[in-house]
Amino acid sequence: NEIYLAGLGGVLPSHPMTYADLEARASAALPPSVLSYVAGGAGDEFTQRANVAAFERWGLVPRMMVGATQRDLGVDLFGLRLPSPLFMAPVGVIGLCAQDGHGDLATARAARRTGVPMIASTLSVDPMERVAAEFGDTPGFFQLYTPTDRDLAESLVRRAEAAGFRGIVVTLDTWVTGWRPRDLAGSNFPQLRGHCLANYTSDPVFRARLAKAPEEDPGAAILEWVGVFGNPLTWADLPWLRSLTDLPLILKGLCHPEDVRRARDGGVDAVYCSNHGGRQANGGLPALDALPGVVEAADGLPVLFDSGVRTGADAVKALALGATAVGVGRPYAYGLAAGGEDGVVHVLRSLLAEADLLMAVDGYPALADLRAEGALRRL
Ligand code: FNR
Repeated sequence: NEIYLAGLGGVLPSHPMTYADLEARASAALPPSVLSYVAGGAGDEFTQRANVAAFERWGLVPRMMVGATQRDLGVDLFGLRLPSPLFMAPVGVIGLCAQDGHGDLATARAARRTGVPMIASTLSVDPMERVAAEFGDTPGFFQLYTPTDRDLAESLVRRAEAAGFRGIVVTLDTWVTGWRPRDLAGSNFPQLRGHCLANYTSDPVFRARLAKAPEEDPGAAILEWVGVFGNPLTWADLPWLRSLTDLPLILKGLCHPEDVRRARDGGVDAVYCSNHGGRQANGGLPALDALPGVVEAADGLPVLFDSGVRTGADAVKALALGATAVGVGRPYAYGLAAGGEDGVVHVLRSLLAEADLLMAVDGYPALADLRAEGALRRL
């Protein structure tokens, strides 16, 4: 209504209203090295495109005379009541998408304003304690890239607990970085990441590994980080991961039903179906196509989902396929680039408004209605 009424008054919305427009504005605003890092994916980006295209193969079947004047998009997750099923997926380097370089903080403020939770990446410009301080009443989650040094992993988790994060999301698909031609062409990748090591350089365990303080010898700190970053975990490590925290534990990157069953048996609190937005492995199944199998194997355990969500309608389709909550990555990163904190708020509110309106006009007033037999059909 805000947007339509502004139009009546002759005031055109100054914010982008389509994903294409959003991407164009972000592309104009971002330095080329950051843009290619954010926009790019693995290989020839087949999977990245397929993630998006997958949503076009599903359609909601409208229901009439439901009287869906009131919608309820709220979800219960980990004992928290969230106002909507939308969340911001962890985006390392998000700090650099903001003009002042502190995009982690701007994103956290957008989370506070919208109630949409942020999963804060291990790879941030500002340390997690500063990010968490901006959340207000909106719950935040910490995404852990598990380092090879178990003491360091534990230290990061302890800090996240102390900072008030409400869950730990362990990303499994990135113990080594995928083949990303746009980054390889620009050779900018290590430099960009070098700006996003605040959680390491502020950590006592990491600092103890260095001969000189990172402020004195940043190059050595980056090299040390490269060495310790990625732990090729196996299922034998799950009991250790589980023992790290009493907070909800979520495993990110699960697409195979058998992996979901193993995670479930290992006592995780939720599984997170994602292919990292097509940034890690190319040539794979779109994440949306993996979702039904993940939901079935999860057998009632909450399922988080991301990869390819560009519109409110996409989010609704993922929910109809059984996701408990749906994340976006690039859309809010572009919102931040195009309009700072307000840009993120705009992107989130637009996604939610579109989803809400769709549930109204299609006659699905509650999330549970979307999961009813026959609500969604494959084209
Ligand atoms: C990511 N993603 C990611 N995931 C993660 O667990 N930790 C991280 O640090 C990052 N970093 C990161 C940087 C950038 C620039 C992007 C675009 C993505 C993956 C992210 O959490 C999510 O899985 C995808 O972004 C979802 O796909 P869409 O929404 O970008 O299509």
